[in-house]
Amino acid sequence: MLTFENDGTMGAVAGGVLRARTAAQPAAVAVALPGGDPRLRRVSVEDKRVINSKADLNQLVPFKYRWAWEKYLAACANHWMPQEINMSRDIGLWKDPGGLTEDERRIVKRNLGFFVTADSLAANNIVLGTYRHITAPECRQYLLRQAFEEAIHTHAYQYIVESLDLDAGEVFNAYHEVPSIRDKDEFLIPFVDTLTDPAFRTGTLENDQKLLKSLIVFSCLMEGLFFYVGFVQVLALGRQNKMTGSAEQYMYILRDESMHCNFGIDLVNQIKLENPQLWTGQFREELQSLFGKAVELEYRYAEDTMPRGVLGLNAPMFKEYLRFIANRRCQQIGLEALYPGASNPFPWMSEMIDLKKERNFFETRVIEYQTGGALSWD
Ligand SMILES: [Fe+2]
Ligand SMILES: [Fe+2]
Repeated sequence: MLTFENDGTMGAVAGGVLRARTAAQPAAVAVALPGGDPRLRRVSVEDKRVINSKADLNQLVPFKYRWAWEKYLAACANHWMPQEINMSRDIGLWKDPGGLTEDERRIVKRNLGFFVTADSLAANNIVLGTYRHITAPECRQYLLRQAFEEAIHTHAYQYIVESLDLDAGEVFNAYHEVPSIRDKDEFLIPFVDTLTDPAFRTGTLENDQKLLKSLIVFSCLMEGLFFYVGFVQVLALGRQNKMTGSAEQYMYILRDESMHCNFGIDLVNQIKLENPQLWTGQFREELQSLFGKAVELEYRYAEDTMPRGVLGLNAPMFKEYLRFIANRRCQQIGLEALYPGASNPFPWMSEMIDLKKERNFFETRVIEYQTGGALSWD
């Protein structure tokens, strides 16, 4: 008979390999069917692991990681699409020669330059990397939703570029051509490469640490830190009633990213719980130096996007903000805070993250998206 399962010889490449199961290859699960064929055992909760599980990956239930399932449900409940947001005021303001200052235009263009490829990088990292190595079906279910959200984010940025009639070649190539953007992406690429390398297998201390490090870099530093200068800047524009359609797109993206970051942190903490041997002193030190490096790169990005004070913001405020966020990320995964005493100069950002869709913050018109069955049978 044909079955999907991890054949165990693949370490933790949790890919579900289609192969013929024979009597010599029993399923690696625990509960036998009463009086039944011992090869057809049912998955038990005890068999499930976030990494290196041998249980059948096609069986979502019995649930073990309910937090992941609940995040999947919450993410679906937050569904939105870029075209729901009216961009006509943004278009008018962008075309008006006196509508925005040069510094404000720079903020819009630089951030699109970073984000328009960052979310593709995020999607590829999930689909071609992370997903293969995570062996809890509940977590995979969330990752599938997350991958779609990354596609929606790329769509949103493309939609803004198109609405404002920007030079797509310039915006999409910014990650090659603008050093402050390129440096952030170059910091991330080795961690993405680890997970997307077809030869990479988990199942050894060294490789499980590599996986964990990549997950931490991705959730805490990319989604949890590298996005935040841009989010603050574009949302600050919106708070001054400028580029409100773009700001609203970014606001929904911020809400999604905040959940991606929290899911990644829960995933990291679950892996730590199941594999405490990975969390060595040397490993923690290495992580802290990566956090320090990321803060430095994001601060350089803040300086580059904002050479002068603009919208009531200036680069030193971001130094404090990035330190505050880095501390929080460290504490969320059980590392010592790197910058004791750093405070949040932008408390209004928390309100944005918790935003309910119907609040319509910038008074752009949002059409409620029809989720669930909209089919009529008459
Ligand atoms: Fe995203
Ligand atoms: Fe994300």
